[in-house]
Amino acid sequence: MEKILATGGTGYIGSHTVIELIKKGYEVEILDNLYNSKIEVLDKIENLTGVRPKFHQIDMLDENGVDKVFEDGNFSAVIHFAGLKAVGESVEKPLEYYETNIGGTLNILESMKKYGVKKIIFSSSATVYGEPESDVCVETLPTGQKLTNPYGKTKYMIEEILKDYAVADKDFNVTILRYFNPVGNDESGLIGEDPNGIPNNLMPIIMKVYKKEIPELSVFGDDYNTRDGSCIRDYIHVVDLAKGHLLALENIKPGVSIYNLGTGSGTTVFEMIDAFEKASGEKLPYKVVGRRAGDLPALTANPEKAERELGWKAEKTVEDAMRDTINFLRNN
Ligand code: NAD
Ligand code: UFG
Repeated sequence: MEKILATGGTGYIGSHTVIELIKKGYEVEILDNLYNSKIEVLDKIENLTGVRPKFHQIDMLDENGVDKVFEDGNFSAVIHFAGLKAVGESVEKPLEYYETNIGGTLNILESMKKYGVKKIIFSSSATVYGEPESDVCVETLPTGQKLTNPYGKTKYMIEEILKDYAVADKDFNVTILRYFNPVGNDESGLIGEDPNGIPNNLMPIIMKVYKKEIPELSVFGDDYNTRDGSCIRDYIHVVDLAKGHLLALENIKPGVSIYNLGTGSGTTVFEMIDAFEKASGEKLPYKVVGRRAGDLPALTANPEKAERELGWKAEKTVEDAMRDTINFLRNN
C-alpha cells in the first residue's frame, strides 16, 4: 500500500484525515512540530484505528530534518496541512506567517523534488477568494484580490507556487483543496479541535464558553443584510472534509486540480448558537458586539466540482457536528 506523509498530521484536520487514511489501509507518517497540537493525539489515533503512525517531531523550517524524513520515507504522496492559521495573529506577526507557511512549504517541495515524490494535496482556504463578487464561490472565481491579512495571502501565494512548480515539472500532481469552515469531530469523541492558546474561530470559542473558560461568546455583528443579521458561513463537518482528502488522493493527476470542500449551504452565527444549545440542552451565553474587521456578510461554497470529479459530497449536517462536539467536550 502507498505510504503518505501528513505534515501537520497531529492537528485538527490532519488527525481526522490520518484516521480515514489508516482505515482505508494507507501507511501514514506524520511530520509536526506540535506547535498547535498534542502528542497524545497519536495515542488516540492508535486507539481508534489500531495503528500508531510513525511520528517525526520536526519543524518544517528545519531543512535537514525535513530532508531526513523524506530520505527514509519512500512516500508516494504528501498531504500538506502544516502551517499557522490564526487570521488575527497573522496581522500582528506577518513575518512569522510568511516564514512558516511559505518557507515551510518550500522546504517540503525541495525534499519532494530531491526524493522524486510527485503528488501533493494542499490545505488551502476559502479565504483565497478575498471579497468575491458572489457569495457563492466557484473555483473559477479570481483569487488573490482584496486579501485582508497575511494568513490569507500565504494561502494564495502557496497556491501560485504550486501552480508554477507544476508548469516546470509536467509529472507533478497537485490538488488544492479550499476548505470552507471545518467544524465537529470524530463520532467517538476521542479527538477534536483542541488548540493551544486562545482560539479565534467560532466553534472553538463556543466550546470554551461551554466549558466556562470564556464567559460569553461575542457575536460579531447582527446588522448584516442576512436572514437574521449575523454572518453566514458554510460549516463543513471535519469527517466529511477528511474523506475529501481520500478521494482527492485516489483521483490525483498531473497538473493542478482545485476543489472547494464545503456543503453548499450556509448557517448564520445565531443558527449556530441555536444548534449548539439544542445539542447541549444548555443556554450559551453571548452578547452582540460590533462587526469584526474583514468579515464578509456571507460566504458559501459551490461544491459541485468536487462531486462531479471526485465523487465527494458532504453528508453530515451542522446538527451532526454539534452532537459530535458535545460528545467530545463531555469525553475530554
Ligand atoms: P491545526 O493548527 O490544528 O493543524 C496544523 C498543524 O501544523 C498543527 O499540528 C501544528 O503543530 C503544525 N505546525 C505548525 N507549524 C509547523 C511547523 N513549522 N512545522 C511543522 N508543523 C507545524 O490546524 P487545522 O485546522 O488542522 O488546519 C490544517 C490546515 O488547514 C492549515 O494549513 C490551515 O491553514 C488549513 N485550513 C484550516 C481551516 C480551519 O478553519 N481550521 C480553514 C481553511 C484552511
Ligand atoms: N464569529 C463570531 N464571534 C467569534 C468568532 C467568530 O461572531 O468570536 C463569527 C464571524 O463573524 C463569522 C463566523 O463566526 O461570521 C465564523 O468565523 P470564523 O472566524 O470561525 O471563520 P471565518 O469564516 O472568519 O474564517 C474562516 C477560516 C479562515 C479563513 C476564512 C475565510 O477560519 O481560515 O474562513 O474563508 F481565512
